[in-house]
Amino acid sequence: MKVYAHRGYSGKYPENTMLAFQKAAEIGCEGIELDVQLTKDGVVVVIHDETIDRTTDGSGYVRDYTYEELSKFNAGKIYGGKYGFQPVPTFEEYCKWVSQTDLVTNVEIKSSVYYYGELEEKTMELVRKYGLVDKVLYSSFNHMSLVQIKKLDPTRYCGALLEHKGLGNAGYYCKKYGFEAYHPGVKGLTEEEVKGCKENGIEVNVWTINDMGALEQLYEWGCDSVITNYPEVCKSWLDSKK
Ligand code: G3P
Ligand code: CA
Repeated sequence: MKVYAHRGYSGKYPENTMLAFQKAAEIGCEGIELDVQLTKDGVVVVIHDETIDRTTDGSGYVRDYTYEELSKFNAGKIYGGKYGFQPVPTFEEYCKWVSQTDLVTNVEIKSSVYYYGELEEKTMELVRKYGLVDKVLYSSFNHMSLVQIKKLDPTRYCGALLEHKGLGNAGYYCKKYGFEAYHPGVKGLTEEEVKGCKENGIEVNVWTINDMGALEQLYEWGCDSVITNYPEVCKSWLDSKK
């Protein structure tokens, strides 16, 4: 079972910053999950919310700032400035860095609250530019974004993201739409759902696993990956099972 660091090593470092990504890489997990959105001037940036209020010292919508303006805000706010100034990374900066590692990246297209139009295409172009096509899996709560990715390049790996209520017959659904994976929230997930995915050849990558009981259960059920704020803990438990 693979371990993805959710928004980087966000259990210890400010989420979706280069620091959180580098720290995840240091502990030796297999992958990183991150969120992308578009600035006013069309730059793909790595940030979770549509607004910058929760994670930076600024306020307002990501889409109302140019990247130059956005880069002045400190995304290190969550840990009270403990880690100094941490800019909102561009996705290009991330791609440049990750291309020098063995890490796999789960890029979540944040397009459910506000639909950016060109976000899928611009993100895919950067992935191609840095030679990451085989090291990226796309996911989104907005499955139309995944359909759009498949339309642009049917070979890209896509995972259908679902909230904790999940989706009846998820394996069949993913197979029917050509998605390679199912990304359910852990809380409502059942063994039947996992089995249904396996029967349809669909991988199951579950979020957000922050307790040992859930980790053990998903391991027993044969899930493919866990997405966690605490990659170090998950990794060392899984290593002990080898
Ligand atoms: O991709 C899994 C997880 O990140 C989805 O929820 O809100 O943390 O982006 P959220
Ligand atoms: Ca996410």
